[in-house]
Amino acid sequence: MSLFMAITISLSLWTNFAKAVPIPGTHVLAPEVNVSDVYAHWPTYDQLPLNPSFPTKAAWGVWGPDDELGTLNHITPETIKAALAEVREGIAISLNLDLDVPHPPLFPTRTPLVHTFLAQTGFQDDIVTINTQISTQYDGLRHFPYSTNGNISTYRKVFSQFYNDLLTFDEIFSGEGVKTLGIQNAANKGIAGRAVLLDWAGWMESKNATFDVFSPMNITADELDAVAEWQGMNSSSFTRPGDFLIIRTGFGKEYAALPVHEQLVLPFRENSTFLGVETSEKTLAWIWEKKLALVGADNVGFEVFPFDSSVRDGRSLHEVFLSGWGQSIVELLDLEELSENCHRLSKFTFFFTIQLLNVAGGVASPANTLAIL
Ligand SMILES: *[C@@H]1O[C@H](CO)[C@@H](O)[C@H](O)[C@H]1NC(C)=O
Ligand SMILES: *[C@@H]1O[C@H](CO)[C@@H](O)[C@H](O)[C@H]1NC(C)=O
Ligand SMILES: *[C@@H]1O[C@H](CO)[C@@H](O)[C@H](O)[C@H]1NC(C)=O
Ligand SMILES: *[C@@H]1O[C@H](CO)[C@@H](O)[C@H](O)[C@H]1NC(C)=O
Ligand SMILES: *[C@@H]1O[C@H](CO)[C@@H](O)[C@H](O)[C@H]1NC(C)=O
Ligand SMILES: *[C@@H]1O[C@H](CO)[C@@H](O)[C@H](O)[C@H]1NC(C)=O
Repeated sequence: MSLFMAITISLSLWTNFAKAVPIPGTHVLAPEVNVSDVYAHWPTYDQLPLNPSFPTKAAWGVWGPDDELGTLNHITPETIKAALAEVREGIAISLNLDLDVPHPPLFPTRTPLVHTFLAQTGFQDDIVTINTQISTQYDGLRHFPYSTNGNISTYRKVFSQFYNDLLTFDEIFSGEGVKTLGIQNAANKGIAGRAVLLDWAGWMESKNATFDVFSPMNITADELDAVAEWQGMNSSSFTRPGDFLIIRTGFGKEYAALPVHEQLVLPFRENSTFLGVETSEKTLAWIWEKKLALVGADNVGFEVFPFDSSVRDGRSLHEVFLSGWGQSIVELLDLEELSENCHRLSKFTFFFTIQLLNVAGGVASPANTLAIL
């Protein structure tokens, strides 16, 4: 585009900024966006946030000021119908770990699954109590607000810091019937479409490169492009809007291979570290431009842990994804059987669905993922 066009576009965005005067602690007054044709004026990564007073790289207002679905809006009847073409072999593979794996949970504040039986007269029930963060999980939009360098006293500096400024931290705990940004939105949306697997661990192994899944090693966007090429895909066009991007880091395989006594002590390491996707502006730009509905991985938090604060203002990917873009993160996926089949068929795209627990006001849910090749 010409420089003149660029200036005109930024001027028109600026006119919109000027109209949107944020009021701390109230709902966002977003710039004018045509929600029925959001791609006509799709903001580039550099144009985020639409209002300079919104938090770092937030996409607040992109789908309208009251939107609660975020990037799930990329899923449409057209993307679902197109994804049906990915079903060729008739192989359906669950990507869910046993709900009690990892055991014990990887962070000591999270208690293990409790499964009990209730004897009735002539039949039986069972009762399952879980922290939704302990196994294969779908992080919803109540999970992780913006803060500054993880400092929770900065939560309410300007906004409540959840997606579209629709919720305050205390509303989650106060009850009072507030269900805003709960997992029920994603549960009722109907998550189905095309997914792409990038087997980073397989690519590393093919190069005889060593890596430690229990170290804070970065997986970069450049590496993920190289993985796509290694899998025979075009790194400029291997995803489509509405896709679910899944990364195999090798964590699941390494964890499963640990002797039981090492699994038992893993949560109690002095400084817990796990490899993951690099927390950087480059990663954010790479993902935003792809218009993905969801991202996921077989590791602990998708991004490297502990969360790096390299993104401007000390942000993690969790903050920008969940509370900036309304983009959920699927973690601790079981990708072993899937990746074996993808390599055997030389086909790394497939149909996928997710069915979430329909808990009004829920923070997260077991992911209940199904891949169909
Ligand atoms: C919004 O987009 C729709 C679909 O392209 C179009 O029909 C409508 O005229 C647009 N509205 C405005 C206000 O531009
Ligand atoms: C957290 O933020 C508050 C408010 O800005 C500030 O006073 C405090 O020093 C910060 N704490 C840390 C550990 O950075
Ligand atoms: C990796 O190691 C194997 C076994 O030593 C060897 O056959 C292969 O050539 C190596 N591959 C690369 C890319 O170095
Ligand atoms: C990972 O990437 C971040 C952000 O670019 C950087 O600050 C950090 O040093 C990197 N960590 C390692 C172990 O290379
Ligand atoms: C890869 O995709 C880009 C973008 O669609 C296209 O311009 C390019 O020609 C493709 N490259 C190959 C080798 O097909
Ligand atoms: C854990 O982190 C602290 C603070 O950075 C450091 O002093 C300590 O040496 C680390 N321990 C280990 C086992 O790496």
